[in-house]
Amino acid sequence: MTPHISAPPGAIAEAVLLPGDPLRAKHIAETYLENPVLYNQVRNMFGYTGSYKGKRVSVQGTGMGIPSASIYIHELIHFYGCKTLIRVGTAGAIQPHLELRDLVIAQAASTDSGINHTRFLGQTFAPIANFELMRRAYDQARARGLPVHVGNVLSSDFFYNDEPTSLERWAQFGVLAVEMEAAGLYTLAAKFGVRALCILTISDQLVKGQRSTPLERQESFNQMVEVALETLL
Ligand code: HPA
Repeated sequence: MTPHISAPPGAIAEAVLLPGDPLRAKHIAETYLENPVLYNQVRNMFGYTGSYKGKRVSVQGTGMGIPSASIYIHELIHFYGCKTLIRVGTAGAIQPHLELRDLVIAQAASTDSGINHTRFLGQTFAPIANFELMRRAYDQARARGLPVHVGNVLSSDFFYNDEPTSLERWAQFGVLAVEMEAAGLYTLAAKFGVRALCILTISDQLVKGQRSTPLERQESFNQMVEVALETLL
């Protein structure tokens, strides 16, 4: 039991999917896991453990942003011994060639957040994905015929940014999409020596001003979850 997760020791699997939205954790558990058991309700940040094709898997909501996600990720790794963590989330595309519903595999995560600036005393750390997980997720997506891009993403502290041009510099340097947690996940995975990956589905095309419908979001989210679960096997 930790300040934010009420599960007893051993109740959480070594392999964990991490959606931001706790109701997505519930949806994943009820749709894809056999015998899902709810292990956390603190702050309604639901976490479940069940099995997928015989493998023990947990799914834990993280909330939005690096600070919230980092609390859950730290506790999962440090107190519950989680070893493989895959974030499944949505992102806004900042390159014109990305389409709504495309998959993005975050090879690396740049950030405008202050956490690593503080942690590394003003120097720059490059948060990167685990190569083996990234390769497997890519192969899974390709085998399913899903449009998939691999590259740098921006983990922003802003959903509503006062600076209208804030994303342009990142886009000029090839960053594919903006989300809000991957840099925190990759940094903590590096700190604790475990494996992490972030897979995203494009829910907003920020260059073209397009937004997917709730049904499109759900369908592409499910495809991404299937890729993530197969990556864990
Ligand atoms: N910004 C940050 N995170 C996001 C976005 C966005 O536009 N869309 C989906 N996740």
